[in-house]
Amino acid sequence: ARLVVLVSGAGTNLQALLDACADPAYGARVVAVGADRDGTVGLERAERAGLPTFVVRTPDHASRAEWDLSLARAVGAYEPDLIVSAGFMKILGSGFLDRFGGRIVNTHPALLPAFPGAHAVRDALAYGVKVTGCTVHFIDEGVDTGPVIAQEPVPVRWHDDETSLHERIKQVERRLLIDVVGRLARDGWTTRDRRVSMKCQTC
Ligand code: GRF
Repeated sequence: ARLVVLVSGAGTNLQALLDACADPAYGARVVAVGADRDGTVGLERAERAGLPTFVVRTPDHASRAEWDLSLARAVGAYEPDLIVSAGFMKILGSGFLDRFGGRIVNTHPALLPAFPGAHAVRDALAYGVKVTGCTVHFIDEGVDTGPVIAQEPVPVRWHDDETSLHERIKQVERRLLIDVVGRLARDGWTTRDRRVSMKCQTC
């Protein structure tokens, strides 16, 4: 399966995917990496791996709808089977979802539907939960509302701050994302209402 990965930041999830794809048995390969801003460490990782990269910036577009279409064109040029939003900090609108909806995987550092949005780790700490975690899900038109594919819990420790907790979540998140993307790529998937099974039940 061909993967296009979208990043905005450090790209440690991207790196985990690149490392997993080095094994041909994994069943997927990253064909391009895109970002919404220049100079991200994620793009540097892609360049180091010799992969094509592209940047589609919102300020270069007259409207968000035009940005969506531009991003869709850039991604579409690589004919991906799956798109992975790995720390991509932009909301994808209908211009993008109309073309790729149902095969965009996102990773989120909380157990959705708890703590959606850009400050999931901070919000979980502020609430005082004892367990949080990470969710890998398909993207729909809402903010972190799409069908859940897999989740894993991470306990909150008394001395945690946002950085320490996020770091522990990210360790679990990388493992979960690699596992999910590999299984989707190798075995396909089935969706019934909002329930996703990581196996094609009808093939
Ligand atoms: C991850 O925790 C992701 O869930 C969140 O931002 C982080 C990105 O990390 N949205 P990285 O850029 O892959 O290192």
